[in-house]
Amino acid sequence: MCGIVGYIGNKNAVNITVEALKRLEYRGYDSSGVASISNDGNLLIEKKKGKIRELEQALSKQETAACHLAIAHTRWATHGEPNENNAHPHSDNAGVIALVHNGIIENYKALSERLKKNGSVFKSETDTEVLAHLIGYFYKEGVQLIEAVRSALKLVEGTYGIAVVSTREPNTIIAARKGSPLIMGIGKDEYFIASDVSAIIIHTKKVIYLQDEELVSVNFNGFDFSTLENETIQPTISEIDWDAGESEKGTFKHYMLKEIFEQSNTIENAYRGRLIEAGATARLGGLNMSMAELHKIKKIILIACGTSYHTCILGKYLVEKMARVPVQIDYASEFRYRNPIIEEDTLVFVISQSGETADTIAALREAQAKGARVMGITNGIGSTISRETDGGIYIHAGMEVGVASTKAFTSQVTILYLLGILFGRMRNLSHVDGLHYMGELKKIPEKVDRITQQSDKIREIAKKIVDSRNALFLGRDVHFPVALEGALKLKEISYIHAEGYPAAEMKHGPIALIDEEMPVVAIAMKDVLYDKVFSNLQEVKARKGRLITIASEGDDQLHKISEEVIYIPHTIHELQPLLSVIPLQLLAYHVADLRGLDVDQPRNLAKSVTVE
Ligand code: G6P
Repeated sequence: MCGIVGYIGNKNAVNITVEALKRLEYRGYDSSGVASISNDGNLLIEKKKGKIRELEQALSKQETAACHLAIAHTRWATHGEPNENNAHPHSDNAGVIALVHNGIIENYKALSERLKKNGSVFKSETDTEVLAHLIGYFYKEGVQLIEAVRSALKLVEGTYGIAVVSTREPNTIIAARKGSPLIMGIGKDEYFIASDVSAIIIHTKKVIYLQDEELVSVNFNGFDFSTLENETIQPTISEIDWDAGESEKGTFKHYMLKEIFEQSNTIENAYRGRLIEAGATARLGGLNMSMAELHKIKKIILIACGTSYHTCILGKYLVEKMARVPVQIDYASEFRYRNPIIEEDTLVFVISQSGETADTIAALREAQAKGARVMGITNGIGSTISRETDGGIYIHAGMEVGVASTKAFTSQVTILYLLGILFGRMRNLSHVDGLHYMGELKKIPEKVDRITQQSDKIREIAKKIVDSRNALFLGRDVHFPVALEGALKLKEISYIHAEGYPAAEMKHGPIALIDEEMPVVAIAMKDVLYDKVFSNLQEVKARKGRLITIASEGDDQLHKISEEVIYIPHTIHELQPLLSVIPLQLLAYHVADLRGLDVDQPRNLAKSVTVE
């Protein structure tokens, strides 16, 4: 989704901000732009539709070489189609300021009507340009930019992360936040503004997270934080503990492939240091809850969007089975508006890779407003969710760049499994069973590697379905959410329509679609429901569906009804999804790559959806 970068310091500001935009490309965008102030005090704005390289080509090297302050933006269209006019930065009526903005100004229509009466002429269809004009309206002779920004933001309904520069104050950047993430980075005699740590991590690890309704004024000598009400703030400086190298692709063709292969490590990172042999239980210190408090929990609610929602479904299967605690699951976008009932002794978890998904943040606030204790399960260290929740668990998967989530999913599932052990041990799970669960988990990383080693074989299978227009994914019990995830991966990156279904439910609809053209990818592991799933698959076979099955090593039946079988190692039923999802991720990856598509940045999608 939209990205913001700003720089002030002694280096070439335009180069630095445009380079930093490239590190935000993974979030998804359709146009980009940069603004700076030239030596002779003029506003320089360059914008382009398409990739950042288009913007780079358009920039005049001579003009920008001496610029020591710049703001830049990648846009993911909300108001108005992706084109140069709608791309940011936007300027005010007088052409004095430039503004980049993430978020949505909900009352932009009413504001624009008022501004038009005052002579504003708008060049774009965006809500952002209205905000630029509004700031310009307040930026009268003798008024400082920060005051004008403050006055404008007080009238705004909606969300924003913004950075603003002005020709009248050519040594200052103003940034402000409400709802959209924004940070300030502190370097040596230089400062950065960014919507995402990854944009600036190669320059500095010292950052300040802006809170809602906070502004910062940055110049060459330092910075001042204040609120919308003009109260001064002493901000807290945080140290980022990531390695910039984590975001490199290495020898892999795409980030997504690299991230699929990383899963043996990332799963281990999720449970490392959290398994307590002595008590045969899990330690999740970030929950900040005593044993007595945890023991009192009678119900768990899991809330998320996208792939993280599939973790919720799987979490329901795992926690209810392992710990016998009832689990309710919800899409964040539905939870936030449907007036959910939250009883006493309920613990809510919001699950989000980025920790910045707008609907998930809103759901978290709604649950808190109803008195719930809300925990976060996130990858985004220092993210909004990690800061606003009452406690939480980091998945420690390292930076995930591919828009289609892979390693974050398996790490989240690992955490839900640990929750199953933790809550289970307080209820009816014996010491021996707890140890068994822990022992099996430790064998998973090596088994993951055995599956990724089959990548070439899976590519051959992908060749057979590369031209399909539809695909069906089937699974039962813990493999039902995996089927949903397999279908989501395929549709996200290959644009093949795909649906995931509980295998038996297929008879109530999707079976009508099955013919000799239709690939049906089914997870049919040797476990309690094997015979049931086998019968479901025979129904597919009887209708000439093209079966691709994910089977347990040693299975000698499925090959009789399948066009292709992918064999994966055996583990206990509760952990099997950590393995069965991997061939589906690889299958989606290879199909998309064979179709020549932009695997890491699929069309229309964003890595982190920061608007409602
Ligand atoms: C977007 C991404 C998905 C992700 C979802 C939820 O749609 O493209 O990959 O699963 O957002 O994101 P979150 O960061 O909250 O897990």
